Amino acid sequence: CGIVGYVGSQAALDVVVDGLARLEYRGYDSAGAAVLADGKLTVTKRAGKLVNLRDALAESPPPQSRAGIGHTRWATHGPPNDRNAHPHVDCTGAVAVVHNGIIENFAALRVELEERGHELSSDTDTEAVAHLLEEEVTKGAGLTEAMRRVCGRLEGAFTLVAVHAGEPDLVVGARRNSPLVVGVGAGENFLASDVAAFIAHTRDAIELGQDQVVELRPEGVTVTDFAGAPAPVKEYHVDWDVSAAEKGGHDYFMLKEIAEQPRAVADTLLGRVGADGRLTLDEMRLSDQQLRDVEKIIIVACGTAYHAGMIAKYAIEHWAQIPCEVELASEFRYRDPILTRTTLVIAISQSGETMDTLMAVRHAREQRANVLGICNVNGSTIPRECDGVLYTHAGPEIAVASTKAFLTQLVAVYLIALYLAQVRGTKWGDEVFAMIQLLATMPEKVEAVLGTVEPVRELARSLANERCVLFLGRHVGFPVALEGALKLKELAYMHAEGFAAGELKHGPIALIEQDLPVVVVVPPRARPILHDKIVSNIQEIRARGARTIVIAEEGDETVAPYADTLIRVPAVPTLLQPLVATVPLQVFACELATARGHDVDQPRNLAKSVTVE
Ligand code: G6P
Repeated sequence: CGIVGYVGSQAALDVVVDGLARLEYRGYDSAGAAVLADGKLTVTKRAGKLVNLRDALAESPPPQSRAGIGHTRWATHGPPNDRNAHPHVDCTGAVAVVHNGIIENFAALRVELEERGHELSSDTDTEAVAHLLEEEVTKGAGLTEAMRRVCGRLEGAFTLVAVHAGEPDLVVGARRNSPLVVGVGAGENFLASDVAAFIAHTRDAIELGQDQVVELRPEGVTVTDFAGAPAPVKEYHVDWDVSAAEKGGHDYFMLKEIAEQPRAVADTLLGRVGADGRLTLDEMRLSDQQLRDVEKIIIVACGTAYHAGMIAKYAIEHWAQIPCEVELASEFRYRDPILTRTTLVIAISQSGETMDTLMAVRHAREQRANVLGICNVNGSTIPRECDGVLYTHAGPEIAVASTKAFLTQLVAVYLIALYLAQVRGTKWGDEVFAMIQLLATMPEKVEAVLGTVEPVRELARSLANERCVLFLGRHVGFPVALEGALKLKELAYMHAEGFAAGELKHGPIALIEQDLPVVVVVPPRARPILHDKIVSNIQEIRARGARTIVIAEEGDETVAPYADTLIRVPAVPTLLQPLVATVPLQVFACELATARGHDVDQPRNLAKSVTVE
């Protein structure tokens, strides 16, 4: 989501709406604004893109105001409609709040508020905050103090920005885990999810730290922690232009989205692991009994999502011990798949709109199978037509080639495989429990990979004039190899093929010639049988002249003698390795494409969401 707050001498609404336009890439399900004038709040919000909000404001313009807040939404809780659009207000209409992130304990807070007589009018996790703020204000706290108290009660990730009808020159913000920056002007100040929103007005910014509350008045900015103690602030000067600012300083959305992966992985885990270390996926809408009855799983997806599906098969058959097939969605309904009431079909789709996948979902439902969607776009067609849905929380993905959505799809399939194992009680109980804990460490592992990709960039640039690159992998490394090859095709328009390393000797080895770059994904040493076989494959191709680019875990020295280039990734269990091993391949494809002069965000002939069969 994108958030804007403003207080100062300009017309607040104009500043807020222009700021939202610069943040629309962060979400475009719905948009809204609240302005403060004459002791009254005026809130306008509309489902759909910002233009709908602009039209509504033009039709009935709110009064001129010096303070306002705005929001452009990427739905996580509740479908994208007018009611769920932000800002949210309390029952008295005195407090308005906008929010980015996920409040994990919102269900408990809603129950508590309803018990105290509050009527909540939306499905969002955010609305509870408006009511809690109002309660504190009614008890006598100023809005800033109310915000501190309420934040102390919230779990999860949030950026909140609020206004109160009784305090006309004040906007209050709070931050935990989700981004919020302050723009410092002369006699005016700004708050936003990123600097793009206010860069037309000021380039002086303050970075807020974790668990801080900021009080914004025309004459100044005060930052404290949640306990009210003054907090140190980091001031900086932004030297990006407006277009770079939208991309967070990156040249392309794809680079920004690659960099966002640790956050996206963390967000997708958020609220799904209980304090007892067990998974809670109630939101999925399929009962535990339905999941216990499942006898067969079929995964359908296209493109990158299909590769996530291939990895899901390994995870589901291992942990949950349920037979699992994976199929390209476009092929599914044209054969005669055997589906029954005990078949669970899992449809994976970032956009939730891919026609091939949607048709597979409809076919499966007609045959009475249960269908579970794994989607990133809340309220899109596929989740609406599925029996159940598990949302990934990657946030909007703008670049056509999927990166952060893929990693979050992996997290989602791991969660489902582990949850199935948990409710069915397979022989892997201890391993399942340990994996759930380990998932929490994956964001930092992905971050670690991102910190070491500079040599991958150099390598990619050195290969810009090659005509072909091959990718090899085994087990879950095989779909990773396919994904590496797909990225290179999509972005660099280069011939690239992924193979199962064991198949090499049955044909593809004939392609190996002097200096042909071959990327090999090496499984962890914890699986010696897999690992040693692939080390032999590396030797075989190198003996035939291939230039070997080897992705192997830290500490694996056995591969070093056969690697012309060695790319290290953190050591993780085999099934989780795609989360770290895919990242260098994304960077590789992106850099190689850039070196060849291509627009990586909008590759030729491709579309982000393909709504034809
Ligand atoms: C298009 C995109 C791919 C994507 C595929 C599936 O072909 O170009 O990047 O992987 O669709 O998209 P979905 O939204 O269903 O995940």
